[in-house]
Amino acid sequence: MRPAPPPQTYRVKSFGCQMNVYDGERMAELLASQGIRPASEGEEADLVVLNTCHIREKAAEKVYSDIGRITKEWRRDDGSAPLIAVAGCVAQAEGEEIMARAPAVSMVVGPQAYHRLPQMIEEATHGRRSVDTDMPAETKFDTLPARRSVGPSAFLTVQEGCDKFCTYCVVPYTRGAEISRPFADLVAEAQRLVEAGAREITLLGQNVNAWRDEAERGLEKLVEALAAIPQLARIRYTTSHPNDMTDGLIEAHRDVAKLMPFLHLPVQSGNDRVLKAMNRSHTVESYLRVLDQVRAVRPDIALSGDFIVGFPGETDAEFEDTLKLVERVGYAQCFSFKYSPRPGTPAATMEGQVPMAVMDERLQRLQAALQRSSLAFNQASVGRRCAVLVERRGRHEGQWLGKSPWLQSVHFTADVAIGDLVEVELIEAGPNSLAGRLI
Ligand code: 5AD
Ligand code: SF4
Repeated sequence: MRPAPPPQTYRVKSFGCQMNVYDGERMAELLASQGIRPASEGEEADLVVLNTCHIREKAAEKVYSDIGRITKEWRRDDGSAPLIAVAGCVAQAEGEEIMARAPAVSMVVGPQAYHRLPQMIEEATHGRRSVDTDMPAETKFDTLPARRSVGPSAFLTVQEGCDKFCTYCVVPYTRGAEISRPFADLVAEAQRLVEAGAREITLLGQNVNAWRDEAERGLEKLVEALAAIPQLARIRYTTSHPNDMTDGLIEAHRDVAKLMPFLHLPVQSGNDRVLKAMNRSHTVESYLRVLDQVRAVRPDIALSGDFIVGFPGETDAEFEDTLKLVERVGYAQCFSFKYSPRPGTPAATMEGQVPMAVMDERLQRLQAALQRSSLAFNQASVGRRCAVLVERRGRHEGQWLGKSPWLQSVHFTADVAIGDLVEVELIEAGPNSLAGRLI
């Protein structure tokens, strides 16, 4: 690798989950604090960070083709190309292999080590390549620069990693063991987010409801503390595990007005044998019991979940159980995926891998059922009046897009500004959004 001048401009491309979006923002802030500015639209950046996701499908292959494209398209007259850093979960999982396969990459940095990017960039300017996939004891959060400017709806990572080891999932390997960030740090970061313009904060974690503070207090304590910040209007959290839904957190849905009536609680399958093979450690019944408890304290709660079709060994009848569960729960919105073997996970080598054509067919049927469910949920909201947080402009002149308390996308035409919280009547529903009218 030849020495390169210090980069003047950067671009961070994030793939995958909301936590990656958060990490991408934090990396961008870190680079900006080093005097590197974001490349403008269409401008070639001197440094490209690919913040990758490894959870499904051909993640690693996509990264290699991205790297190839960047080095080919962005090669300059003098033969030089941008510095490339691979970050995120593919970096963690593939580490040295990326270095071996992609000579154009000068930095590989895992999700727990990206606070060390400035030193790695320094190395790269001297022509030295580096890999850092440590999970250091000092956490990145202690060394990252403060948040400065954010949109009306901001993410705040409160918990990382996972100890659940579902048999299909790479997260316990790429993000490591569960850690909770300290209470005081989180309240301070939330305060800064609000000062920087946030009106809504979504607390993030792979198992966000497993968050505990130093005194073993659960997520509801953090929610209560953030609710006391006057300018903060809304609090959300994602993603939760059914087994970590404590009574305290459920009661917060009744007691804390700023906690929005939305719960993303992945179930993955509607069949107990499959759940067991997935090592989910809950049953359909125990999951439904949690939903009943939440609905008892917050009847209007919008429910959401994740589903996997075609887990190894899943029979037609077992898949039908998932469809039955969907009918029974009445979800507001969900994510659904075809099972994809992740190298190194137990399910990848299980017998009975389901053929792609079968998975395609199951996914289509499931998604049709989920669409019907979302449409029914949205139709039932027509006539409701609610607050909408304005997040961005719509496609048409004078049109705005925002979110209802139930995380529905609402579009309406009015004279408002981004960050306003306005009263809207919901007047028309589709499966993915609603039309509203300003009251
Ligand atoms: N194949 C398909 N979907 C997966 N998910 C996680 N791992 C896999 C996999 N190997 C899905 C789960 C999880 C969501 C974030 O991604 O549904 O809840
Ligand atoms: Fe993956 Fe299961 Fe942990 Fe969720 S709970 S991150 S699916 S191992």
